[in-house]
Amino acid sequence: MLENFWYAVELSSAVTTKPKQVTIMGRELVLYRDSQKKAVALNNRCAHRGAALSLGWVKKGCIECPYHGWKYQSDGKCVNIPANHSNVSIPKRARVDAYPVQEKYGFIWVFLGDMPTTECPPIPEFSQFEDPVRKPACLEYNFSAHYTRTIENVLDVSHAPFMHKGSVGTSKTPEDTVIEDYELQVSEWGLSATLGIKINKLNGLMKFILPQDDPNAKKEYRFALPNITYSSVQFGSYKIESITAHVPIDETTTVAKAISIRNFLNNVPLLNDWFDRNTAKVGTKICQEDDVVVQDQIPKQVPYNNMSCELLVASDATLIAYRKLLKKYGKQLEKV
Ligand code: FES
Ligand SMILES: [Fe+2]
Repeated sequence: MLENFWYAVELSSAVTTKPKQVTIMGRELVLYRDSQKKAVALNNRCAHRGAALSLGWVKKGCIECPYHGWKYQSDGKCVNIPANHSNVSIPKRARVDAYPVQEKYGFIWVFLGDMPTTECPPIPEFSQFEDPVRKPACLEYNFSAHYTRTIENVLDVSHAPFMHKGSVGTSKTPEDTVIEDYELQVSEWGLSATLGIKINKLNGLMKFILPQDDPNAKKEYRFALPNITYSSVQFGSYKIESITAHVPIDETTTVAKAISIRNFLNNVPLLNDWFDRNTAKVGTKICQEDDVVVQDQIPKQVPYNNMSCELLVASDATLIAYRKLLKKYGKQLEKV
């Protein structure tokens, strides 16, 4: 994995004063909120005898190990060893690693690198998620695939008419599968592209709500290193936007955690909930459809270092750009 980047690892709403374990490429962390409600990320393994701190509890802002009650501050320092007399000093090694944390756009972002955070790429900008008009809809899905594959799956602009006929909609004519050349913006740490939407028969609730006669209906794709994809669909003035964190659990497991906002149907409580449930249902079905293919792709990890390993064509411009970014930061990738 890329080391010196901020990773979105959890939904903000899932982090409370009850400790929660998250695993990033086999590395276990515990997340919780201290007495100021600030999110904390520590190494999950107690310095004493390796118990999981996530099985413990938080008292007065400190996390306590369930095994022998060692108590840790949010900087990872142990401040109490109950089996010792209070006049016995606490060993210097009685501490666990603490990781820098930020909370933004409804996600908890953790920095696991070894460089100062000030010298590393910042969290990407998604200002529209800064202060949404109401609680965004969330979705989680466990993919049995490497995170570079799940990221490419979102950036893959040509698979929907084949994989998502049932969940999204169908093309009217065979020519609608053609992807015209599209413009791609590549920045230092990400990319974006906007394409016209050619699905002419939307399924589900969408067909009653979205104006499908808009010839300018469009979808935007974005990627931001290391693990964020963004997509938006716009029909007329109606827009739905989602950010997905592809949390790399291990080589073959990725949990996609997504947050969605929309600029319509936000003020009718019953309809809001109904629409959110429908969005989650369709989103889950789309993920299930995608997972069948991505979990079985060979090689398991995107072959960013060997462009001749797969045969990418013009419609795959987003994927070519993604692989170039991986290659550019490849030294960091190979370190692990
Ligand atoms: S293992 Fe954590 S206190 Fe002993
Ligand atoms: Fe898909």
